[in-house]
Amino acid sequence: MKVLVTGGCGYIGSHTILELLKNDMEVIIVDSLINSKKDVIDKIKKITGKDVTFYEIDLCDKEKLRTIFEKEKFDSVIHFAGLKAVGESVEKPLMYYENNLISTINLLDLMKEYNVKKIVFSSSATVYGNPQSLPIKEDFPLSTTNPYGTTKLMIETILKDLYKSDNSFDITILRYFNPIGADKSGLLGEDPNGIPNNLMPYIVRVAVGKLPILNIFGDDYNTVDGTGVRDYIHVCDLADGHVLALKNKKTGLKIYNLGTGKGTSVLELVNTFEHVNNVKVNRQIAPRRDGDIDACYASNELAKQELGFNPKYTIEDMCRDSYNFVKNN
Ligand code: NAD
Ligand code: UD1
Repeated sequence: MKVLVTGGCGYIGSHTILELLKNDMEVIIVDSLINSKKDVIDKIKKITGKDVTFYEIDLCDKEKLRTIFEKEKFDSVIHFAGLKAVGESVEKPLMYYENNLISTINLLDLMKEYNVKKIVFSSSATVYGNPQSLPIKEDFPLSTTNPYGTTKLMIETILKDLYKSDNSFDITILRYFNPIGADKSGLLGEDPNGIPNNLMPYIVRVAVGKLPILNIFGDDYNTVDGTGVRDYIHVCDLADGHVLALKNKKTGLKIYNLGTGKGTSVLELVNTFEHVNNVKVNRQIAPRRDGDIDACYASNELAKQELGFNPKYTIEDMCRDSYNFVKNN
């Protein structure tokens, strides 16, 4: 199978490419490098000993994107490309709507024109808003609280409408929970610009002394210890979910949660991080962060049944591998 991976230089895309190559699939990457670096390509080659083709193109430029469809004959697409910072999306909504929606519409339009009908799309647990009960199932009501989340929900709607109009499309929407961790090599990982918003990148920067202290946003949530609970999933397990989605016998339009099904609180994560890495993480309790919810974790039963998805990494592994990446870089 030959796969076009949009956003393949990013955090989840690069880890997924390792899995695709391990499974003897051929990979074409398209990335504008707006939130990643080109050296990821060399690192992928170093880890796998295999070659990939790379195009530095913004998906919003349809005619440049067309050149890839003209040159490369691929059977399927995994669409990671997009901007993903919640806070930035509130400040710059038009930039988010333009980048995430125009890029996707261009891609889908060219897929239709060139008869490439198989796509796996990166959605997010953010489309469940504040869930009424837990664990979250795929048929729960959908809502969003910020422009980033709205772009994900809008793209899901576009994909559903596209499928209604042309059921020869084979579409998989994957709703990721909270990816953390890194490949064992320590070469690839999550490397956000500036001060991180997400918890794990913040913890590791405090651990290595790049940031002074972790603010724990709230200790009065309705959870096991009062701190927020999330479903952290190792990025390599998430990567595996994409290979399974490409190999899935079931066609049509499918939606799967990719999470472990287990909730972990902020305090549990920080304490495990300290323990497995034998390092101190300074922390203090701070006010709640606007828009945060008490708890969020997946039911992954559907992905288990239909994809054979079986996440194998523990919270300990995730903490060890996240730290290993930042220490090496
Ligand atoms: P990332 O920023 O590391 O990777 C995204 C990649 O897309 C980057 O390399 C960026 O340069 C590229 N890109 C962005 N806009 C582009 C455009 N118009 N044309 C070409 N390339 C473009 O993010 P990630 O964490 O790897 O996330 C991948 C996808 O998964 C995103 O769509 C994101 O919204 C989604 N997602 C991520 C998380 C998470 O916690 N990381 C959770 C749920 C969903
Ligand atoms: C965030 C995004 C969500 C996105 C998800 C995965 C927000 C409001 N939501 O969700 O849209 O899909 O990332 O990329 O940004 N925390 C701290 N201190 C910190 C950072 C986080 O205590 O410095 C806490 C949070 O309050 C939360 C937990 O850690 O309870 C996880 O936070 P984070 O990693 O930002 O992920 P989400 O809030 O789940």
